[in-house]
Amino acid sequence: MIENVVEERLNMSEHAKDYAVKRIRTFIFCTAGMAGLLFGLDQGVISGALPFITKEWQLSSQLQEWVVSSMMLGAAAGALFAAFLSANLGRKRSLLVGAFLFIVGSLGSGLAINVSMLVGFRLLLGIAVGIASYTAPLYLAEMAPKESRGKVISGYQLMVTVGILAAFLSDTAFSYSGSWRWMLVIIAIPAFVLICSVFRLPDSPRWLASKGRLNEANRVLQSLHTSKKIAEAEFVDIQEALKEKQAGWALFKANKNVRRAVFLGVMLQAMQQFTGLNIIMYYSPKILSLAGFSSTEDQMIGTVINGLVFVLATFIAVDMVDKSGRKPALKIGFFVMAISMFILGLCLHVLESGNTIWFIPYLSASMAMLCIAGFAMSAGPVVWILCSEIQPLKSRDFGIACSTMTNWISCTIIGASFLTLVDTLGSSVTFWLYGVLNVIFIFLTIYFIPETKNVSLEQIEKNLMRGEKLKNIGC
Ligand code: BGC
Repeated sequence: MIENVVEERLNMSEHAKDYAVKRIRTFIFCTAGMAGLLFGLDQGVISGALPFITKEWQLSSQLQEWVVSSMMLGAAAGALFAAFLSANLGRKRSLLVGAFLFIVGSLGSGLAINVSMLVGFRLLLGIAVGIASYTAPLYLAEMAPKESRGKVISGYQLMVTVGILAAFLSDTAFSYSGSWRWMLVIIAIPAFVLICSVFRLPDSPRWLASKGRLNEANRVLQSLHTSKKIAEAEFVDIQEALKEKQAGWALFKANKNVRRAVFLGVMLQAMQQFTGLNIIMYYSPKILSLAGFSSTEDQMIGTVINGLVFVLATFIAVDMVDKSGRKPALKIGFFVMAISMFILGLCLHVLESGNTIWFIPYLSASMAMLCIAGFAMSAGPVVWILCSEIQPLKSRDFGIACSTMTNWISCTIIGASFLTLVDTLGSSVTFWLYGVLNVIFIFLTIYFIPETKNVSLEQIEKNLMRGEKLKNIGC
């Protein structure tokens, strides 16, 4: 495909070249976005299916937890596996393996004949989610022009949120007939579309160059830029970055600057998860019922509204990250989340002490929404953007594997500890605790997080390796 594009472009007018570049970029961004959609679909689908599965197989609470958390465990393992795949076979083939596992996992879990089989296929789906969450942002960061890299990766996160909302709507549609198997199987359709599209993707020029396939790397770069000069300059910068002799773990051990980048990635993903967003997502029916909205209909409406808020607020990030930057988005987002967690905690405190003030349930539900909006416009997309930008090329796979695994491990810890925290500390104190964490994250952002808007990956790497402070590596 790329060969054809490059040959064709030799004879094209400027206008036609522009159009060809736009077309190939759009195809790349939509295909990687599909991986985000599947991530969201698989994350969202189980909440609607679980009550029916539990009823049919009489599942204990422990088995229900296994059905839910097997995917997260699989995702942590999938992130590690993806590091191996993407370093050795390339980002494109890594996405292909992920798409294939999405199909097998969706069909297998929908056709499972017992709970062990379901848990096994959910683990497999988790591996697919881990591969997608690792590879898609990385691939996008390596393919996007520096001026719109933030927007493109936010677009990927937007698709994750669209996936969560679509899963909920499809679950609702199938819930009238109670057919949980259809809820799970239907996801194989977008997975099939993904596999067909990935076949036509070009490989990342950075990965190709790292494997010594310089001609192919150059060709891909030419197809991604209207200006030959810009493509050539990028090609020179990539080759410069590849002069580093060591790679991966060896480079991590030998080089303090690489360790700093890995530390930053791990910290960013831990921050993203410890904002507490997933608690609001996973337990939104429980939060709504604590706030006094206990009918199934109320909770369904609440969950759809939360999903819509998530999608809409992500558009703020899409628009903001390349203009105002990553850091302002993060600071505003953590601030909004801190305020909403504190007020939500206060409302729950009032409710727990038996007071019935009419507006408290509405205020609690609004605070849950505000918290979602705060995350969607900041840490949701920005953390994935930064994690794909800050790792040096020679240790990029290793660094992103560490940060993506941190995301999934933290996500599991938070999901597993929420109910215990509520039982021991009470729900209000639990939310205040998350509020305090969000305040701490504002300071961590000010002192450690770099602003990377409009800076090439190679420039970020040069600054890091020169020993610049982490917060200055994007200058
Ligand atoms: C986070 C997930 C979260 C999802 C929601 C992602 O960026 O890593 O933990 O559930 O956003 O859209």
